[in-house]
Amino acid sequence: MPLNLTQLRADTGGAGKVTHFNNAGSSLMPRQVTDAVVGHLRREEEIGGYEAAAEAAPNLDRVRVSLAQLIGANPGDIALTESGSNAWAAAVSALSLTAPRVLLARTEYAGNVLALRRLARHRNLQLVVLEDDDGGKPSVDHLQQELATGDVGLVALTHVPMTGGPVNPAAEFGSLCRDAGVPLALDACQSVGQMPLNVAELGCDILVGTGRKFLRGPRGTAFAYVNPDLHGAEARMLESREASMAGRLGLGRAVDYALELGVEAIRDRILKLAGIMHARLAELPGVELHTEPQHGIMTFSVRHKTPAEVKEHLARERVNVSMVQHAPSTPDAVLYATLEDEPTAVRASVHCFNTEAEIDRLVEVLTQLQRTNR
Ligand SMILES: Cc1ncc(COP(=O)(O)O)c(C=O)c1O
Repeated sequence: MPLNLTQLRADTGGAGKVTHFNNAGSSLMPRQVTDAVVGHLRREEEIGGYEAAAEAAPNLDRVRVSLAQLIGANPGDIALTESGSNAWAAAVSALSLTAPRVLLARTEYAGNVLALRRLARHRNLQLVVLEDDDGGKPSVDHLQQELATGDVGLVALTHVPMTGGPVNPAAEFGSLCRDAGVPLALDACQSVGQMPLNVAELGCDILVGTGRKFLRGPRGTAFAYVNPDLHGAEARMLESREASMAGRLGLGRAVDYALELGVEAIRDRILKLAGIMHARLAELPGVELHTEPQHGIMTFSVRHKTPAEVKEHLARERVNVSMVQHAPSTPDAVLYATLEDEPTAVRASVHCFNTEAEIDRLVEVLTQLQRTNR
């Protein structure tokens, strides 16, 4: 069933106040999510933090149930955390790897690469960057060759890169890793909430996601799935005893909201809007698109303007976008990338509550900016 746009916009307090194309950074929460967060904070104010948590215990338990439904897992294999990358690093570091080579793709999230570099130093591991295939995705053939050596202890893959670009072949990776008995750690921070995910179909042993991006949950919320058959890592050990219960309840409400809308319907609308945005930006002289519309994240450059200048100009018109560095192209650059590298592109990311009129607005403001070049 197509989504009811009027309802979606009514649920989204920020819709109409800003043109929000920074959903890959942090999306606009629906009011149901804000209500869950604020409602719990009020109870903490009124009766005390521990008492409010005890009162909300059944709802807090349901957060794991909702997440489990979202990704086809058991609630007991889900950890509630505050950061996707911290959970990823903790889960991966706890693994007892049976071989020294760790495979990763060119588009692995830079924070995960940093964690792998630390791990490699301490445990004498060798990090190997997989080649891309002709379509710019990590090569499944190269993965197969590496796995056949018997020297691979772990494979890391970021499902949808924060820099845009193709959706990486997670299920193909999962199937080969399962056959080889090698754990696959999947970073789904940019895919969860914008496309259906199922850990059994993806064949991953670790999956992490953040709350604030396409799930539209509060900041400082994240989750991790850990396959209970893995040696070393275990879901609950990733949880910190102290955390924002309001945030966790907000995350649960965000997941329920996505499930109520239907993740397929969300995906379809995001893809439709991404296609429209891509076509409109492609018509703009001086705009160079770097990605195809395969999900909600699009990156582009504007001739004679830095990404920061474009972002600032759009922000003055209350159009929110962000900036990214392109994924590095050589293995060395992948291994030594940092999260602080100079941005090379503007990132505009759509969600289901965005409209075609908002895309028109983006195009209009970019056109104004280009006039200042003449
Ligand atoms: C692909 C990817 N992984 C991980 C993260 C980090 O998640 P968190 O900020 O929850 O640690 C991000 C954030 O931008 C991301 O895009």
